[in-house]
Amino acid sequence: MKSVAIKDKKQFEIKEIEEPVKEEGKVLIDVQKTGICGSDIHYWDLGMPVGLVMGHEYSGKVLDNGGRVDLQKGDRVTALPISPCGKCEACLRGDIHYCKETWAHASGLSLDNPGGLAPMLKVRSDMVFKLPDNMSDEEGALVEPTAVGYHAVNLAHLQVGDEVLVVGGGIIGLMCALFAKKSGASKVVVSETNEKRGQKAVQLGVADEWINAKDEEVMKNYDSKFDKVLECCGNAPAVNSAMNLVKPGGIVVLVGVSMLPINFMSMQAVMKEITLVGAIAYKKDEFAKCINMIANKEIDVLKFVSKTITLEEVQEAYEELSSGESNAIKILVDPKK
Ligand SMILES: NC(=O)c1ccc[n+]([C@@H]2O[C@H](COP(=O)([O-])OP(=O)(O)OC[C@H]3O[C@@H](n4cnc5c(N)ncnc54)[C@H](O)[C@@H]3O)[C@@H](O)[C@H]2O)c1
Ligand SMILES: [Zn+2]
Ligand SMILES: [Zn+2]
Repeated sequence: MKSVAIKDKKQFEIKEIEEPVKEEGKVLIDVQKTGICGSDIHYWDLGMPVGLVMGHEYSGKVLDNGGRVDLQKGDRVTALPISPCGKCEACLRGDIHYCKETWAHASGLSLDNPGGLAPMLKVRSDMVFKLPDNMSDEEGALVEPTAVGYHAVNLAHLQVGDEVLVVGGGIIGLMCALFAKKSGASKVVVSETNEKRGQKAVQLGVADEWINAKDEEVMKNYDSKFDKVLECCGNAPAVNSAMNLVKPGGIVVLVGVSMLPINFMSMQAVMKEITLVGAIAYKKDEFAKCINMIANKEIDVLKFVSKTITLEEVQEAYEELSSGESNAIKILVDPKK
């Protein structure tokens, strides 16, 4: 079958890979929609690992249930991409996102488990969730990034009336902004280096205002103004702006991922007694709650979808998303289009 695989730095290739075959304990899925994630862009940037077929945010139809009797052929599903061992201290406590093994074999993030940039995939049956009938395939593919934002905001311990800054208006930042508002923030501000994305955060109704992170004067005006800051970029200027703009005694949640070390003013954390919290993925119950919130129309995530493309258009979409100038937020791929 046709897939999109990493070939080199910033380079994909359309590659024939073997179709997955049915296996006990794994659900075989006919992929409907797959999201492109900011983390995928980091892998593509580095060009590693060569041969990786990404796509950890997807929806699909069950082809074979692998022994999970509550799933029928044709059921619409999504899944957690992570692959916890189930036996370690963290797993037994329900903190499957802390498991040391959870990323090594993650679906769409490891060579042995190709993801949704192909028409079919196979995933651990215990990670699969059935989608309610009133939920679209597009919404199904958005559950994963929704759960990332939900988990991050849960870690920010928001109080009603908090003023919140979200650094970065990509999908993760916008999900954080959405949940910050929903949790009672009196004001949600998104800072962006990309004007189009900053404006879009306000247009989509998840931010009250946006500020231009490139404008040093503006950024200075917001010095120590926010109760809670969610950093959703993963680069040094973004992390430093989070430290600068949080109030003394405030919380900074680090959601952005950097594959390389980041320099930041630790003195800021000392002088302002900032609580720095990392946020990775989600717990299983948070993932399930996000499915319910989307299905109940409690939150609208479809507004973040900019377009749906083919496998052949994936290279171009990555170039667009990494340009720093696009107003696209979430690009979905239809692997059968
Ligand atoms: N912790 C987790 O579990 C988790 C899960 C998914 C993604 N991530 C990470 O979160 C980050 C965001 O993901 P995304 O999909 O939204 O990515 P994205 O690349 O679409 O969005 C990042 C945004 O940050 C903006 N930006 C860059 N530098 C900035 C700065 N100094 N100030 C303000 N804005 C700045 C960019 O213009 C861009 O719009 C990525 O690093 C991704 O790897 C983490
Ligand atoms: Zn992701
Ligand atoms: Zn474990």
